[in-house]
Amino acid sequence: SILIVDFGSQVTQLIARRVREAGVYSEVAPFSRAVEAYERLQPKGIILSGGPASVTTEQSPRAPQFLFEAGVPMLGICYGQQLMAEQLGGRVVTGDHSEFGRAFVEIQDGCALFDGLWAPGEKHQVWMSHGDKVDALPPGFRIVAQSDGAPFAASADDERRFYGVQFHPEVVHTPDGAKLIGNFVRKVCGLAGDWTMAEFRATKIAEIREQVGRGKVICGLSGGVDSAVAAVLIHEAIGHQLTCVFVDHGLMRHGEAEQVVSLFRNHYNIPLVHVDAEAMFLDGLSGVTDPEAKRKFIGKTFIDVFEAEAKKIGGADFLAQGTLYPDVIESVSFTGGPSVTIKSHHNVGGLPERMNMKLVEPLRELFKDEVRELGRELGLPDAFVGRHPFPGPGLAIRIPGEVSKERCDILRKADAIYLEEIRNAGLYDAIWQAFAVLLPVKTVGVMGDGRTYDSVCALRAVTSTDGMTADIYPFDAAFLSRVATRIINEVRGINRVVYDYTSKPPGTIEWE
Ligand code: XMP
Repeated sequence: SILIVDFGSQVTQLIARRVREAGVYSEVAPFSRAVEAYERLQPKGIILSGGPASVTTEQSPRAPQFLFEAGVPMLGICYGQQLMAEQLGGRVVTGDHSEFGRAFVEIQDGCALFDGLWAPGEKHQVWMSHGDKVDALPPGFRIVAQSDGAPFAASADDERRFYGVQFHPEVVHTPDGAKLIGNFVRKVCGLAGDWTMAEFRATKIAEIREQVGRGKVICGLSGGVDSAVAAVLIHEAIGHQLTCVFVDHGLMRHGEAEQVVSLFRNHYNIPLVHVDAEAMFLDGLSGVTDPEAKRKFIGKTFIDVFEAEAKKIGGADFLAQGTLYPDVIESVSFTGGPSVTIKSHHNVGGLPERMNMKLVEPLRELFKDEVRELGRELGLPDAFVGRHPFPGPGLAIRIPGEVSKERCDILRKADAIYLEEIRNAGLYDAIWQAFAVLLPVKTVGVMGDGRTYDSVCALRAVTSTDGMTADIYPFDAAFLSRVATRIINEVRGINRVVYDYTSKPPGTIEWE
């Protein structure tokens, strides 16, 4: 395995992901617990992450000196490289010009990291993000690549098998980065690269058993992929110590609530409490038009209902959640100070303290596509695992203005037609998210010989890799007219369909 020592970079988990992609198990440990993690894992290699601090200040975090003496290969990235330089007898200075974004390195010399990829004299694109830079290498190191802003863009000590790179090989903007990391774990550390999701599953199951012991776990199902995968994994680990509670707010897509219930009860035989709370949610939403007020009401009511159900079943010691890495990183800001709340996300935060429960979050290190892979590994149906993301507050935030049962039903029908056409056209998996929005605007139309005065439906479809940024999906005109015609003909209450052409930013994916 590989030990990744975290110094607070926003992209540390991307390093772990690249190592997993190279077929090698890795764990991320904060620098303060690195020695402990080393002793437990006995890794064949160590990677020091980047981080927001400056090596030139005394309070900034250091790597435990022990790691340099352990006799295993090491790769330092950005801050990690600077730490190696500083702690092994070189020098780091605050540069007079920072480098952010795309840069080019010129290869000076060969090394195991570049094997089969980069040769001396070549120039390659990398992604940089640094103010400080290495100014003198420690004894034993030589320069293997340079850039304009970083004379020591990459350095190597072949004897100790220590490598340092100023750029970030873990991000996609360093096109050969994944392969460089692959070289490190396979060629330098000599790992076989035969680790799979099946082993992740086995490791997590052992961890869950150890964490939970004989305790009781409760898991809130949202109907989405993440909480379902977490629940199935936990159930495999601890069986009937787990109870799932599905708070059905009546704001799901067409047929979705039934699907979740049948999947859990019939397919997996997992104890499931299905709370039909549609009336409570819709009553509470009546008269509410402000997007944040809707989100807050739904989030709070969800927690109230969940808590009441949890009490009914006699409480629990642990709360299980399908938290993913992007959720973790969005909620922890190392560098930027307090970030602005664009939207209040709906989750069961706050509950663990209220009910005195500990958290079980087995998906914390994973990205969405990895969760899908794990879901397939656990035998969840492809059609379920591949589903587009769906927001916690559901259709309520796709009905600007007042939400009612009638408007939810209209929207569900239009949305189902749109998604059916997308599936029929073979486009579902090429799109990150596609959905219909029901606008609080009525327009005039003519159908047959009569006048109509009905609602407008907007269609949205975007591509994205993580939901943080998005581009519109460029349907062809014939496709859009087919969908528009079907919706207008088949859904009473809609007489006009428009397509949303806004990327994110400046738009958000959801309308509210
Ligand atoms: P926005 O609209 O902020 O959405 O561009 C980004 C991604 O997040 C989803 N989303 C949510 N997911 N609870 C969730 O679990 C929420 O409250 C929520 N709001 C937005 C949205 O569908 C998109 O995938």
